[in-house]
Amino acid sequence: KGANNESRGALVVFEGLDRSGKTSQCGRLLSYLEGLGHSVELWRFPDRSTSVGQMISAYLTNKSQLDDHTIHLLFSANRWDKRSLMETKLKAGTTLIVDRYSYSGVAFSSAKGLDFEWCKAPEIGLIAPDLVVYLDIPAEKAAERGGYGGERYEQLEFQRKVAQHYKLLEDSSWEIVDACQTLEVVEKQVKEIVLEHVTTCQKGKALSSLWS
Ligand code: TMP
Repeated sequence: KGANNESRGALVVFEGLDRSGKTSQCGRLLSYLEGLGHSVELWRFPDRSTSVGQMISAYLTNKSQLDDHTIHLLFSANRWDKRSLMETKLKAGTTLIVDRYSYSGVAFSSAKGLDFEWCKAPEIGLIAPDLVVYLDIPAEKAAERGGYGGERYEQLEFQRKVAQHYKLLEDSSWEIVDACQTLEVVEKQVKEIVLEHVTTCQKGKALSSLWS
């Protein structure tokens, strides 16, 4: 728990292609930080539990068809629905580990051919992560990992394009981790990087907004 009133939680986002290991790493990091006595929660986007989230889920499982622009805006709305709760939690000293965020939003939609700047626009004003851990893996390698589950975007050729668009989003908040390493090695590197950022936030680093 925070040592003083000013201490806030860190917004730590995980990004990467489908099957890059984000979900496993998020789970391990959660237990690790909890074990150290931190207040921490695991979130994910899309959050399929909300009404917008259910529309997104139906789309991803091919139960509904939507225009590419429409689904892009729904993914963004799904994050806006959580913005104020996110701010409250961070200010109260809770660190949030978030499995996918605005970078997924832009990378996946622009990989379909939508204009890059148009894709970024609805994300403006969301809380900027203190750290983005990008789990880097070639699309071919990710595809070999037990195969894709059959959701809409889980195809090799498309994932290759997503990787190219992710690269355009890299900024100073990013740390690239080689996700071809074993789960344990990745876990160790992730813990070190994250702990450093959690400490910086506790020392009073201000919250900022996307994209600045
Ligand atoms: P998930 O497998 O992490 O639940 O994500 C579902 C899919 O949705 C995944 O292929 C990435 C994609 N996606 C977007 O296209 N836009 C977004 O904003 C997010 C969060 C995910």
